[in-house]
Amino acid sequence: MNEKELFELAAKARLSAYAPYSGFLVGAALLTADGRVFTGCNIENASYSLCCCAERTAIFNAVSEGEKEFSAIAIAGGKENADSVCYPCGACRQVMTEFCGGDFKVILADRTLTLSELMPYAFKL
Ligand code: THU
Repeated sequence: MNEKELFELAAKARLSAYAPYSGFLVGAALLTADGRVFTGCNIENASYSLCCCAERTAIFNAVSEGEKEFSAIAIAGGKENADSVCYPCGACRQVMTEFCGGDFKVILADRTLTLSELMPYAFKL
């Protein structure tokens, strides 16, 4: 599974987004250390604070299936398409920090960053 293929799975997952309030559709594809892929999309709610981001949907999906070792996540977001960069929000960066090391790759539309680049000085107990 290369970065482009993982991003394409994120773009496909984006099409499942439930985002009637923002109109901003996001998909994520999470690659486990042993090569499995778990996807997620953003799921909004009329009670806005209950919205869940695509990245957390994917991570919670994987953890709930027993996976806790991850190597990369691709994120595809946008109103019209997934062509522009959609950075993960701070809450999702914190959730990534819970399960992933600093070298965890975050694959965006035109660049790949590491978690340590996106989330330096992360909170840990
Ligand atoms: N969203 C994500 O799914 N991931 C992010 O990292 C940032 C924001 C979603 C949440 C909400 O449904 C919509 O994008 C607009 O904020």
